[in-house]
Amino acid sequence: MPTPLIIDTDTAQDDCVAILMGALSDEADLRAITMVGGNVDFDRQVENAHMTLNVAGRLGEIPIHLGCRRPLVRPWESAENVHGDGAGGLSMDFTDCAVEPEHGVQALIRLVAERPGEITIVAIGPLTNIAMASTLDPTFVQNVDRLIVMAGSNNARGNITAAAEFNVWVDPDAAKIVFGAGFEITVVPWAPLTLDHAVFSRDQLAEIEKIGTPLSEFFLRVCLATLEFDESVGIPGTTHPDSLSVSLALEPDLATAAGRYHVDVEADSELTRGYTAMSWGVHGLEPNATVIESVDGDRFYRRISDMLARETTPNRPFLSGS
Ligand code: RIB
Ligand code: CA
Repeated sequence: MPTPLIIDTDTAQDDCVAILMGALSDEADLRAITMVGGNVDFDRQVENAHMTLNVAGRLGEIPIHLGCRRPLVRPWESAENVHGDGAGGLSMDFTDCAVEPEHGVQALIRLVAERPGEITIVAIGPLTNIAMASTLDPTFVQNVDRLIVMAGSNNARGNITAAAEFNVWVDPDAAKIVFGAGFEITVVPWAPLTLDHAVFSRDQLAEIEKIGTPLSEFFLRVCLATLEFDESVGIPGTTHPDSLSVSLALEPDLATAAGRYHVDVEADSELTRGYTAMSWGVHGLEPNATVIESVDGDRFYRRISDMLARETTPNRPFLSGS
């Protein structure tokens, strides 16, 4: 039976690939997309999600709910210096591209309550919506089957600061609530996992270029916009932690190593804001998460390239933009 899934996303670059994975995989039943403030301008993130469903030929089929536009306490800070508009300047006619009237947080609570213990949430942006849902409804935590979060680094470097990964840094207060809430959490970290196993090299991107489908062209347009930035900070390719998170939800044995950890978040310090303290079991702390330590990176790449080889019919033409 396909996995019932909700993707909570700040849609830009690899978030788009993650949504494609949810929308196109036979193993997935993508029931909703909930939007959270993060990577780029919130309304642009919504447009990016519409364009992603459009290239999959599924525009209007998967509900998009607008969640929290900014973090719980702090001002929103973007990653537009990394992602630009998050979709490589692509656009389309957004006439009649509807979003649901129900708020994203309410939708999360309702959808898991309708099928208690069945739905997997993959959260690939700041954890604001998830923290709000768990605070608003005490049954939310137990109603969620699995919560997979792209969050933090496992005793390794950050990306937005030396100490912190972007999703946790943007809303550390929300992340702290989520890690303390009692979910069955799986963590997909930035480092070392993503940097070791989910970076696509220029050679791999050239292979994807040869595929020549609407999906592969969309992928390259969306991801190549960040390649220059990645290379400028010493990463040899495009980064794919969000699509890895959805892949792990659908194909858990992609993971080749994982451990039980106690994860907590630094929300007070300015210097180490958003640092994820991941304690690996020797410090007397009760584990609250499974942290993915290693995956089969070749298999992950094949999963993505096989998906991009599928022929789809976009619902509307794209406008190329800048
Ligand atoms: O730090 C990586 C995360 O932030 C990913 O979710 C990606 O979308 C990025 O901007
Ligand atoms: Ca993201």
